[in-house]
Amino acid sequence: MKCCVLGLGYIGLPTAALLAARGHDVLGVDVDPQRLDLMVQGVLRESGLMELIEVGVLSGRLRTGTTVHEADTFVICVPTPHVAGRQDLTLADVLAAIESIAPHLRKGNLVVLESTVPPGTTDDVIRPCLDRLSGLSCGSDYFLAYCPERVLPGNLVHELAHNARIVGGVDDESGRRAAALFRTIVSGEVLVTGSRTAEMSKLMENTYAAVNIALANELAWLAEYAGIDVREAIALANRHPRVNLMNPGPGVGGHCIPVDPWFLVDGTPASACLISQALRTNDGMPGRVASAIGDALARIGKPISGARVVLMGVAYKGGVDDVRESPALGVATWLWESGADVIFQDPIATGFPHPVEPDLLAAVSGADALAVIADHPQYLGLELLLPRLRRLMRPNPLFVDTRGVVKSAEGFLFWRLGCGFAKDGNVVLNRPAQPVVSEELRKTS
Ligand SMILES: NC(=O)c1ccc[n+]([C@@H]2O[C@H](COP(=O)([O-])OP(=O)(O)OC[C@H]3O[C@@H](n4cnc5c(N)ncnc54)[C@H](O)[C@@H]3O)[C@@H](O)[C@H]2O)c1
Repeated sequence: MKCCVLGLGYIGLPTAALLAARGHDVLGVDVDPQRLDLMVQGVLRESGLMELIEVGVLSGRLRTGTTVHEADTFVICVPTPHVAGRQDLTLADVLAAIESIAPHLRKGNLVVLESTVPPGTTDDVIRPCLDRLSGLSCGSDYFLAYCPERVLPGNLVHELAHNARIVGGVDDESGRRAAALFRTIVSGEVLVTGSRTAEMSKLMENTYAAVNIALANELAWLAEYAGIDVREAIALANRHPRVNLMNPGPGVGGHCIPVDPWFLVDGTPASACLISQALRTNDGMPGRVASAIGDALARIGKPISGARVVLMGVAYKGGVDDVRESPALGVATWLWESGADVIFQDPIATGFPHPVEPDLLAAVSGADALAVIADHPQYLGLELLLPRLRRLMRPNPLFVDTRGVVKSAEGFLFWRLGCGFAKDGNVVLNRPAQPVVSEELRKTS
C-alpha cells in the first residue's frame, strides 16, 4: 500500500519507518527540511529506530520530501500545541496538513489522524474541511479515522509495534479500513470504536497520568512536613493490591501529559475542577523546587542572589533527549528571578534553548549547589561520585535530589523532594513551616 506520513517528528518518523519495514511504500513529508535527513535526526536516540529506518531506506520503501503526493493512505502526525481558547492555533498544523492532502485525495483513500486533538475534532472540523477542499464525500468517496498514538518516549519503537491501538472511525467503514492498516504494522490488539470516543480515550490516558502525578506531588509536600520519606511510603502503599501511586517530581514535561488535559479543561472548564487543580499543582512544582533551593542555601549562609546552581538533567525526564516543557527551565526561571547563576548539565538532551554542559565534572566547578532534575541512567552511581564533585565545588555545598537518585550525600547539605533535609540517609524532622490554623478553628477544635 502507498502511504504518505505527514510530520516526521517523534511520532511520524518511527511510524513511517515501521510502515516501510512492514512492506508499505512510504513517503515521509515534513515542512521542516532539516527533518528530512533521516540519518542525522536528533530523535534517533530511540532504541531500534535507526535499524528500522535503515531497513526502509535500503529497501527503497522509505523516502522523504517536503510535498505531499498521491497515496492510498495519508497519516497525519503533526504537532497540536495547547493554546488556551484558540482552537484555530492548536489545530493550525493539522489544518495545514489537511490542505496539503486535499488536492491529492482520490476515491477509496484513507486519511488517519494521529495527532492528539480535542474531542469532536475529527468529525466536526477535519471531515467538513476535507470534504470542502477535496470535493469528495467522507464515508463514500474517502474514509477518515482518528487513531491516537500512545507510545512512551524512551521505548518508542517497541511500544509502537506492540501496544494495543485504538482506531476511531468517523463511520463503520472508515473504522474497518483503518483497523486493517494497523493490523499490518502492530502486533498488539486493534480496538475499533468511533472517532469521538477515540479522541476522548487518548485525552483520558494522559489526564490519568497528570492527576496521579499531581497526587504524588501533593503527598510529597505533606510527607516533607511530616518528616517522612515519601518514596518509601509510596513503595509501601503500592504493596496494597489495588494501589498504584506514581512518584513525585520537579514538574511534568514532554509534549503530552502537561498539554493534553487542557483540551478537556478548555471544553468544559466548570466541570473539570479536579483536572485543572492537578495541572496547577504540577505546574507549581518547578517553583516549589526553586524556592526549596533558595531556603536551603539560606541555611548554609549563602544568599540565592549570586549563588551558582547546577541543574542536572534538562530533558523532561530521565533517559530521553526531549526538552519540551522541561522542568529544568521552570526551575531556572525562578532561580534567575532571585539572581542565581544557573548552569545546565545534561549528557543527552538536544535542542535546549540555553547552553548545556554535557560533562558533569566541568559543570560543577565552582558551584554552590547541585540539583538533580531529570534522572538520566548516566546518573546511576552518582552517590559514589559525590565526594569528587564536592571537592570541585565551593565550600559548604548543597545537594538537591528531586528524583530519588541518591540515598545520602556526605559533606553536602542534602535536601530531597518529598523528604526534606536528610543526614546520613535519615530524614531530619525539620518542618518547613507551621500549619496554617486560624484562631477561629483553634477555638472550635
Ligand atoms: N511525542 C510523543 O510522545 C507523543 C505521544 C503521543 C501522541 N503525540 C502527538 O503526536 C503529534 C505529533 O507529536 P510529535 O511529538 O511527533 O511532534 P514533533 O514536533 O516531534 O513532530 C512534528 C513534525 O511535524 C512537522 N509538521 C508541522 N506541520 C506540518 C505539515 N503541515 N506537514 C508536514 N509536516 C508538518 C514538524 O516540522 C515536525 O517535524 C502531536 O499531536 C502529539 O500530541 C505525541
